[in-house]
Amino acid sequence: MASGLLGIEELSREQIEALLARGRYYQPMQAQSVKKLDTLRGKTIVNLFFEASTRTRTSFEIAAKRLGADTISISAMGSSLSKGESLVDTLNTLDAMRPDAIVMRHSASGAPHFLARFLPTPIINAGDGTHEHPTQALLDALTILDYRPSLEGLRVAIIGDIAHSRVARSNIHLLSRFGVDLVLCGPAPLLPPELQYLAPGITLTTNIEEAVTGADVVMMLRVQLERQHETSFPKNEYFQFYGLRLEHLRLARPDAIVMHPGPINRGREIASEVADFPRSVILNQVENGVAARMAVLEQVVAH
Ligand code: NCD
Repeated sequence: MASGLLGIEELSREQIEALLARGRYYQPMQAQSVKKLDTLRGKTIVNLFFEASTRTRTSFEIAAKRLGADTISISAMGSSLSKGESLVDTLNTLDAMRPDAIVMRHSASGAPHFLARFLPTPIINAGDGTHEHPTQALLDALTILDYRPSLEGLRVAIIGDIAHSRVARSNIHLLSRFGVDLVLCGPAPLLPPELQYLAPGITLTTNIEEAVTGADVVMMLRVQLERQHETSFPKNEYFQFYGLRLEHLRLARPDAIVMHPGPINRGREIASEVADFPRSVILNQVENGVAARMAVLEQVVAH
């Protein structure tokens, strides 16, 4: 990792393993009564979110604070972008105040990569359009490793709106580095066939029963209607064909876990009883988000 963290695609297996090891190191700290370190004391981190976020933004802010950094969170709504300032001018303005890292979420795929080319401050990608969401893949891997000794040889089904999901893309890059047997599933308009060529070991299916059969991990995705301008798929029948229900879990391994990056839409992609099911680890993912982001902030800012 030269400076910031733009995507999982750029990372080697060793770099991912190093981040996961630091993430695991920070996991137990989340349950302690005093949660503050001084690893990043004196450092300033700017969180710049041009898209809606609950989990990621809060989690980055908490992670930075637990490492002792000062943080400031800016949302596009209250910034000068709504006064016509360009993205580049906004970033240069923030950069002039000399933060030590900028955490950024933007609706345009590649926006942080473009800015990283000429901005001296490291940029951490908190989600760019339909492209990547690297810290989500890291926290997902940490969560899987809470339930399995290693990623090697696991069968992971990712189900839903694959086409618009940066979570799916970052997970595909990460999990395929570790020899995971990956099944991507969704209605044909939301399942780009070229994804099977991203790495060996990826299969595509439009059949949810086939996807969950024998799975160690069932990862559900939200239908990202805000990113769909032309795609047509049967919205009213979606739950009937692609919503995860308890009956599907009988096809998965008996100890399979159910994941979802959130926000969940109960009754659309996941039945309420599955979301609240004992082996649903959706809130564990949220908890692990803090440890994963502490690992990334430490790597980017302290070194
Ligand atoms: C995801 C995102 O924003 O990409 N959420 C998240 O960060 N946990 C998924 C989504 O919005 O559906």
